[in-house]
Amino acid sequence: MKRILTGLLFAGGIMSTSAQAADEQVNIYSFRQPFLIKPILEQFTTETGIKTKVVFAKKGLIQRLKREGELSPADVVLTSNFSKLLQLKDEDLTQAYRVTPEIKSQIAPQFRDSDQHWLALTKRVRNVYSSKARAGDLSAMRYEDLAKPAFKGKICTRSGKHPYNLGLVASMIAHHGEAETESWLRGVKANLARKPQGNDRAQVKAIKEGLCDVSLGNSYYLGKMLKDKKQIAWANAVNLNFPNQADRGSHINVSGAVIAKHAPHKDAAQKLIDFLEGDKAQALYAELNMEYPVNPNVAPSKLVKSWGEYKADGLPLEKVAEYRPKALKLVDKVGFDL
Ligand SMILES: [Fe+2]
Repeated sequence: MKRILTGLLFAGGIMSTSAQAADEQVNIYSFRQPFLIKPILEQFTTETGIKTKVVFAKKGLIQRLKREGELSPADVVLTSNFSKLLQLKDEDLTQAYRVTPEIKSQIAPQFRDSDQHWLALTKRVRNVYSSKARAGDLSAMRYEDLAKPAFKGKICTRSGKHPYNLGLVASMIAHHGEAETESWLRGVKANLARKPQGNDRAQVKAIKEGLCDVSLGNSYYLGKMLKDKKQIAWANAVNLNFPNQADRGSHINVSGAVIAKHAPHKDAAQKLIDFLEGDKAQALYAELNMEYPVNPNVAPSKLVKSWGEYKADGLPLEKVAEYRPKALKLVDKVGFDL
């Protein structure tokens, strides 16, 4: 009898422990697409027993967080660019995460907030795409060159106000000051083949169609186009250039994460952050979206590696952040999108 009782108690103990783990949950508001984060979150649940619940939206999540206030169920917010990370912190929607020894050793200070409110998860380069047929060898070019008369009528780009371009303009201000960046921006505008429009891939399509010879675009889009039946022809028409290799290096943008200010499951949120910076999740990001892992222990995908080594601009993202408002003003002032 005693043995049976002990056995039952033991079993009961195990049951309540696993029931507890099964109850643990982390709620995620994600600007990043489901195809990308789903496999990563499944791996997280497998390893930790913590369930994940995701609200995905391309827009409106920040408004939603504000509306929900203290009652918000959100624990972690995943963003697809740096400006959303800043906005979340600026609008007081975040709280500090714990800088674990892993985060400290694996994520360069350049890629995290000094108040510990946001951190980067993946990196991408702001590349110059160029026509194989018409642009010649641009592997030694600099962003500064885009304002030179040699590119008159040859440049395509998306809106100057898009976060990817604003980040680049902000980095130009950090390196050259406002006045020099303004004249650079006027020069680039004067060289545009058409009004800024569409996304990064639409510019590569325009190169393929002969509308322009060069464009600005993030690195992972080359991988995405190569894996798309319709777009592979666009990708095959261009070279991927890493600007400023002989001086400061190419401009880097990031995706990232924050812990929400009123996170009901803060411990689970921290565990998710730790997991996302770890080797397994970083490798999944690298394979699934062809971005560069922020954790230097993890290699980029084979395809991304084949594009070659590059030197990255070492400017801290906080510096880029500082100059973003000025960048937006300059883009408006020179009428870049008009
Ligand atoms: Fe993107």
